[in-house]
Amino acid sequence: MSVFRTLLISSLMASSAMTAMLTKVNYPNNATSKVDMYVYVPDKVVENPPVVVVIHSCQSTAQSYFQNSKIPWKHGSDNKGYITVWPSSPHSGTCWDVSSKQTLSHNGGGDSQAISNMILYTIDHYNADPKRVFVTGGSSGAMMSNVMAATYPELISAVSLYSGVPAGCFVSSSGGVDQWNNSCSGGQWGNVVRNMYPGYDGPRPKMQIWHGSADTTLSPNNYQETIKQWTNVFNVSQTPTSIIKDYPQRNYQTENYGDHIQGIFATGVGHSVPANLTASEEWFGL
Ligand SMILES: *[C@@H]1O[C@H](CO)[C@@H](O)[C@H](O)[C@H]1NC(C)=O
Ligand SMILES: *[C@@H]1O[C@H](CO)[C@@H](O)[C@H](O)[C@H]1NC(C)=O
Ligand SMILES: *[C@@H]1O[C@H](CO)[C@@H](O)[C@H](O)[C@H]1NC(C)=O
Ligand SMILES: *[C@@H]1O[C@H](CO)[C@@H](O)[C@H](O)[C@H]1NC(C)=O
Repeated sequence: MSVFRTLLISSLMASSAMTAMLTKVNYPNNATSKVDMYVYVPDKVVENPPVVVVIHSCQSTAQSYFQNSKIPWKHGSDNKGYITVWPSSPHSGTCWDVSSKQTLSHNGGGDSQAISNMILYTIDHYNADPKRVFVTGGSSGAMMSNVMAATYPELISAVSLYSGVPAGCFVSSSGGVDQWNNSCSGGQWGNVVRNMYPGYDGPRPKMQIWHGSADTTLSPNNYQETIKQWTNVFNVSQTPTSIIKDYPQRNYQTENYGDHIQGIFATGVGHSVPANLTASEEWFGL
C-alpha cells in the first residue's frame, strides 16, 4: 500500500511537475517605462537559483523569443535549474529604448530601470542568488544588455551579448528611440558608461561580446567599439591578453582582455550571431 501510494504520489508529482511555463508576473515597478515581465521557473529549480535575464530583439516579444527554437535559454534553464526572466518591450516595433536620457541613467525611469526592478523582484520573490544575476540578448537585446551593464553594474555579475552596439551608441534626437548616433565610433566610450552612473566605483559585470564580420544590420565596427568601451571602463589594454583561433567553433576567434572582457568575432557570420548556450553559460559560470 505504502509503495503504491508512493508511486501514485510520485507520478502525480511528476505530471504536475511538467507544467513549467512562461508566466507574466506583476512586479513593483517605479520606472516611468512600463515593461512587461515574464518569468520561467523550471520544474527542477535549484535552491537560491541563479537568474538569466534574456532580452529580445526588435520585432519580437518575451513570448515569441521564449518560443523561438533558436533561443536556447529555456533549454538551459530546464537543464541547469536557473530562472530566466524575459522582459517585453513596450515600444512600437518592440525595439528597446537604448537612447533616451531616462534609459541611459541609473534610476532614470526608462526601460533599464524597469528591468532592474525585475531583477530586484526576482531576487526577493524567488529567493534568487543576487551574486549570480546574468544578462544576455541579441541585436536590440544586445544593445540593451550593454545599457544594463552600464546603468546597473551593481546588480549584474556577467553579460553575454550577441551583435549589439556600445552603450550610448544610439541617440534620441527627436524624442524617438533607437536612432543611430553617427559620431559613435571614436567616442569616449568609457566615459559614456561612467556618466550613466556617476560616482559608482563598485564591481562591474564581466562582458562577453559576440559579433559577426558579415553583419550588414549593425556594422562589425561595433565589435571593436564595444571592446574599446569596456577595456576603458576596466582600465585594461585594448591589446588582447590571449587569442584563441577557431574557438568556440571554426572561424570564430576568441579574444581575452584580462579576466573581465572577452570578445568573440565570428568570421562570415551575419546579423545576429546565433547564441551559443554552452559558451555563454561558461562565461556566466553556470
Ligand atoms: C525606485 O526604486 C529603486 C529601488 O528600490 C530606488 O533605488 C529608486 O530610488 C526608486 N526611484 C524612484 C524614482 O522612486
Ligand atoms: C554621439 O556619441 C558621441 C560619442 O560618444 C557623443 O559625444 C555625442 O554626444 C552623441 N550624440 C548625441 C546627440 O547624443
Ligand atoms: C589604469 O591602469 C594603469 C596601469 O595599469 C594605472 O597606472 C592607472 O593608474 C590606472 N588608472 C585608473 C584610473 O585606474
Ligand atoms: C559552443 O561553444 C562550445 C564551447 O564553449 C563549443 O564546444 C561548441 O561547439 C559551440 N557550439 C556551437 C554550436 O558552435
